[in-house]
Amino acid sequence: MSALKQGHGQWSSRMGFMLAAVGSAVGLGNIWKFPYMVGQSGGAAFVAVYLICIAMIGLPIIVAEWMIGRRGQKNPINTMADLAAANGRSKGWVMVGVSGTLAGFLILSFYSVIGGWALSYLIDAMSGGFTGMDKDAAGAAFSGMLGDPGSLTIWHTAFMALTAGVVAMGVAGGLERASKILMPALGVLLALMVGYGAASDGFGRALEYLFAPDFSKLTGEVVLAALGHAFFTLSLGMGVMIAYGSYLGEKVDLLRAARTVAIMDTVIALGAGLAIFPIVFANGLDPAAGPGLIFVTLPLVFGKITGGVILAGMFFLLLTFAALTSAISLLEPSVELLQERTPLGRVGATLLASAVIWALGIAALLSFNVWSDVLIFGNNIFDLLDKLTSKFLLPLTALGAVLFVGWCLDRDSVRDELNLSSGGFALWNLVVRFVAPIGVLVVFVSSL
Ligand code: PFF
Repeated sequence: MSALKQGHGQWSSRMGFMLAAVGSAVGLGNIWKFPYMVGQSGGAAFVAVYLICIAMIGLPIIVAEWMIGRRGQKNPINTMADLAAANGRSKGWVMVGVSGTLAGFLILSFYSVIGGWALSYLIDAMSGGFTGMDKDAAGAAFSGMLGDPGSLTIWHTAFMALTAGVVAMGVAGGLERASKILMPALGVLLALMVGYGAASDGFGRALEYLFAPDFSKLTGEVVLAALGHAFFTLSLGMGVMIAYGSYLGEKVDLLRAARTVAIMDTVIALGAGLAIFPIVFANGLDPAAGPGLIFVTLPLVFGKITGGVILAGMFFLLLTFAALTSAISLLEPSVELLQERTPLGRVGATLLASAVIWALGIAALLSFNVWSDVLIFGNNIFDLLDKLTSKFLLPLTALGAVLFVGWCLDRDSVRDELNLSSGGFALWNLVVRFVAPIGVLVVFVSSL
């Protein structure tokens, strides 16, 4: 492994790194997307497949991305170029770094728009804006927000500014410090919400819904959705984990750390389910309501129960924290790249990257209103960004990373780095050379 480059930032502790990695993984994907995907895909059968995908495909790819990052110690693009050269491989491998960095950059533009929704609902919740809302009013509030480019811009700008503010403060001083505060806070808030759910009438049904699988509901589409989501939720395929690995010291045990991240991410997704579904069932709401699940149904409930203002405030604060620690991780690869390849310092690099991403986000949010007719290949800009990244860039980057580690890195050094017995190493090889790449390819091809 190469010695640490002079001046390259580093995590200050193993714990700080773990919290930042968990902070990246735990995001809107866990609290907003996971519950509605479970709802749309028929419950526990989806959850069962999702858990298998996390363990068999997600986990080895996290390790692969960190391993690449730690060996390269640079931004994902330079890292891939260096490692390909050092291992006598084609320069083409640099594309893994390019598509990863590009994916993170593009994703942040629309992730920040949704982060802005969370912020806007947070403010509404705290000012008691949900009180007495009925179904129509809740639906109208959500579509009203989407239809108003001015307020979407304000919230997107505020969210992007928060993200940039943290990233500008550096790896240990910004990313790590924010995660150390926000992640434990998120854990406490979520536990309180689950406690509230456990005391409600809907808890038994929620448990059954999440954990008693009915495998007749398992279709090809459900399996694909589970696999695709396993990627997104673990922040794979976007250069993020490569960048986070580049700040990693030599002592950290990658397999153990990856296991912790995967477990924490899963616990929080399931916790979000246990916080949301009891409320949904106890109030006779539809679990399959789709992306509006938390934005439309929850305010409705928060508006009529006692303690609703506090609970709503807590919930949207949780959502905002989760989104913020993921957003900072999405910005990091681009900032690292600019810092290392241009004369810009940390602050300048952050400002430049954020400004371009912000502008792209404006184009994305206009597709909900004034530009809703602007279609490119039949998609509005928001959907185009989402599809381009989740269907192409993300699986291709992850596939490249796992293949590179499986087939191109020197075997002995990998075994030493992972500290595996020969049996364990044979299993590792089987997974990174065949199981994970084939899994990714299946999602990639079928989603086309
Ligand atoms: N993993 C985050 C979530 O579940 O919301 C989203 C995300 C963050 C994806 C960072 C990718 C990434 F690089």
